[in-house]
Amino acid sequence: MKKKLLVLAGSARKRGNSSLMADEFIRGAKEAGHDAEKIYLTDKSVGGCLGCGACQRNGGQCVQKDDMNEIYEKVKNADVIVFAFPVYFYTWNGQMKTVLDRLYAVEPLLKDKTFYMLASGQAPTEEYMTTMIDSFRRYIGCFRAGGNTEGGFVFGYGTDKPGDVVGTSAMEKAYEMGRAL
Ligand SMILES: Cc1cc2nc3c(=O)[nH]c(=O)nc-3n(C[C@H](O)[C@H](O)[C@H](O)COP(=O)(O)O)c2cc1C
Repeated sequence: MKKKLLVLAGSARKRGNSSLMADEFIRGAKEAGHDAEKIYLTDKSVGGCLGCGACQRNGGQCVQKDDMNEIYEKVKNADVIVFAFPVYFYTWNGQMKTVLDRLYAVEPLLKDKTFYMLASGQAPTEEYMTTMIDSFRRYIGCFRAGGNTEGGFVFGYGTDKPGDVVGTSAMEKAYEMGRAL
């Protein structure tokens, strides 16, 4: 079945390591016949969640009027959602986390999706990414009631400057993961 893929690219570096991994994932997915769209969060103006709870009382409308409205629409229409971002201080970078918090407004929309994580980081091994694996699993687990799925994750280890990930096994893994959708 043809799937719709939405990649949320969290790094401000559009040709950075996480973004390049996302491109490999997309290349694989497109070769397998799926549709893919990538959004650079750095191009979007998204305010932090206010925690006001209005969205929980009014059917999922956030009181903030910003670019998140466009992202909600794209999330709604996607079968597969990919979080591609750099690890900052053992967790999501700020732009990525801001969007994840705002998705609180549309929790029911996240119930039957498949989620992937493509994360870049300077650290050399998975040992440094345990917090990230935990965060990813627990985040999507918040919407598990409807049966969403963990598709998988890839870390671009030991990457610092944009492009460091090129030629590493992380790029191959990202491609293969997209291809296997
Ligand atoms: C503020 C900041 C915090 C960072 N914290 C971590 C970290 O905790 N773990 C890690 O492996 N790399 C860390 N890094 C390195 C980046 O994750 C790494 O350079 C990554 O390849 C950047 O991905 P990008 O090219 O997609 O932006 C940090 C970088 C910055 C700027």
